[in-house]
Amino acid sequence: MTTLITGATGAIGSALAAQLAATGTPLLLVARDAGRLDALTAQLGSAASVTTLALDLRDSAAAVPALQAALAAALAAGRPVNRLAHCVGSTVVRPLHLTQEADWREQFEINATTAFTVLKLCVTGAIKAPHPLAAVLVSSVVAHGGFANHEAIGAAKAAVAALALGTAASYADKGVRVNVVAPGLTRSTLTQRFIATPAAEARSAALIPSGRIGEPGEVAATIGFLLSDAAAHITGQVLQVSGGQGSLHPLPKA
Ligand SMILES: NC(=O)c1ccc[n+]([C@@H]2O[C@H](COP(=O)([O-])OP(=O)(O)OC[C@H]3O[C@@H](n4cnc5c(N)ncnc54)[C@H](OP(=O)(O)O)[C@@H]3O)[C@@H](O)[C@H]2O)c1
Repeated sequence: MTTLITGATGAIGSALAAQLAATGTPLLLVARDAGRLDALTAQLGSAASVTTLALDLRDSAAAVPALQAALAAALAAGRPVNRLAHCVGSTVVRPLHLTQEADWREQFEINATTAFTVLKLCVTGAIKAPHPLAAVLVSSVVAHGGFANHEAIGAAKAAVAALALGTAASYADKGVRVNVVAPGLTRSTLTQRFIATPAAEARSAALIPSGRIGEPGEVAATIGFLLSDAAAHITGQVLQVSGGQGSLHPLPKA
């Protein structure tokens, strides 16, 4: 059995790859940059069974046949892709009147359309040559509350969550589970500008009830749990990993 991680070279994807490689899980890792995929594979060590695919998932004309071939090869090797973590994503922080149509389309393409492409392929594979599938899509707390200047990314991440929940409902009786992890502000290149200096990090942390920025390993561990057999009866859920950001409203400190 193989776990497909897209966005594998990112903060959350690479943390998940490291956690799963440590348990001996065969991995199929996807991101655009072949050099970063090679570096990640070297870090994971020779004990891990790792296949990499350098693909731009926005270019579905190239990505779909390449992924189909990789899924078919895994199936033929007796290790079908039975787990998917889609960790590709982006962000734009801009109020609506400054958001261009191109920004809007870009957020939907990177977040929602890539999720559609990858999830569809994995679900189709799981029902054609029947085998169980657990998938996790990554949304964001900004899809589940009103966050200023997050109109485009919030809408795109809400689309990701709706895609996951509809798919979970359609295939619940076919051994397919689909869940959503919605991180809050988490340390990564995407959020570097909010935590670039101790003062910036302190300002950001003050907006989070737990009082700190999330770590990519914490989001990865939650994805790993939802993919695992320990979550065998969990499907169609959105789990925030956010220290309460956006959902809890503590009393102000005196
Ligand atoms: N960090 C946060 O605070 C935060 C908060 C809420 C939600 N999220 C979500 O969490 C997920 C992971 O985020 P992260 O913080 O780990 O971000 P990250 O470090 O920027 O990782 C993004 C990953 O996606 C890959 N990628 C981007 N565009 C791609 C494309 N078109 N085709 C294939 N691969 C592509 C990147 O690698 P290449 O550039 O090499 O392709 C990288 O591996 C994303 O969905 C993000 O929106 C993050």
